[in-house]
Amino acid sequence: MIGIILYSKTGETRKIAMRLKEKLDCPLHEIIPESYDPKIIKPVLIESPEIGAFDTVILGSPVHGFQVAKVMREYLLQKDFTGKTVDLMITHYFPFKWLGGSQALKEMKRLVEQKGGTIRHQTSINWSSKKRETSVLEMLDLYS
Ligand SMILES: Cc1cc2nc3c(=O)[nH]c(=O)nc-3n(C[C@H](O)[C@H](O)[C@H](O)COP(=O)(O)O)c2cc1C
Repeated sequence: MIGIILYSKTGETRKIAMRLKEKLDCPLHEIIPESYDPKIIKPVLIESPEIGAFDTVILGSPVHGFQVAKVMREYLLQKDFTGKTVDLMITHYFPFKWLGGSQALKEMKRLVEQKGGTIRHQTSINWSSKKRETSVLEMLDLYS
């Protein structure tokens, strides 16, 4: 079974994840921190969704400060992805992937692999770009 797990501070990642959920008709769970302050180095998670039921997990997160959001990092550190196929989806604002998107995906990949997961798709969506909708449609097409 496939499932979506996301963190979203301002709603952009959630909006895109909801479109995936509609397409896949699959569960979607949100990681909820005690505080949405992005400066907190080690966030406390009050909702840390279980992944046991899924064989494939789609993880969605924003980029914060040229890196993966600390809430998602903390989640990845807490979970075990052994035997799971994992797709990564990040959203970011700056026009170039090298202003955060690439680094965020790289770190998520490293953390998931350290925890035994196998990365399949990686998508970076710049919501300030004119190509935003094209990127979203391309990602949705990965699940046809
Ligand atoms: C604290 C903070 C830091 C951010 N840093 C970056 C960044 O380094 N690179 C980037 O492209 N966007 C950056 N952004 C923009 C977010 O990544 C972007 O708006 C994202 O889509 C928000 O997702 P969300 O609405 O799901 O929280 C930052 C936003 C915040 C609030």
